[in-house]
Amino acid sequence: MAIKKILLYPNPLLLRESTKIEKFDESLVNLARDLIDTMYDADGVGLAAPQIGINKRIFVMDCSREDEGKDCRIVINPQIEYQSEEIGSYKEGCLSIPGITEEISRPKVIKVLYQDINGVLERNTYDDLWSTCFQHELDHLNGKLFIDHLRPMKKILVKNKMKKSSKKEKKE
Ligand code: CO
Repeated sequence: MAIKKILLYPNPLLLRESTKIEKFDESLVNLARDLIDTMYDADGVGLAAPQIGINKRIFVMDCSREDEGKDCRIVINPQIEYQSEEIGSYKEGCLSIPGITEEISRPKVIKVLYQDINGVLERNTYDDLWSTCFQHELDHLNGKLFIDHLRPMKKILVKNKMKKSSKKEKKE
């Protein structure tokens, strides 16, 4: 159990495609635990392995409301089998891009296939925030960030804002 450092954009490990997980062993259990601890410590609703510097296809998420209690999902080697034509839109943020939130549109409902911590295949349907979060985290495994969904001009504005704030941090 450990809280890991979360890598920040534009760290190159965030922009790399992650590799499929083949071994369902103790080190994978430890990695999942680290992701869960780090996500809750940072008050996030999702965290993908590349965000702690490990380019493997695993992420964790918990989009439950505060009054619902914890409901953490460990998702390994995920695939989207179906996505609705209906679009949902959420103001997304990312622990690797602090201080930036932007409205992002994605398919509202998805049907997904993934493996659990024991390698057992699971099928699930996700809606609304869970669907958004799943797609956001899956993007991380493909080296893609939520700002990549913005229109080119908007993306440039966001990148400039991030550059300015990281320069300020360095000066302080
Ligand atoms: Co993110």
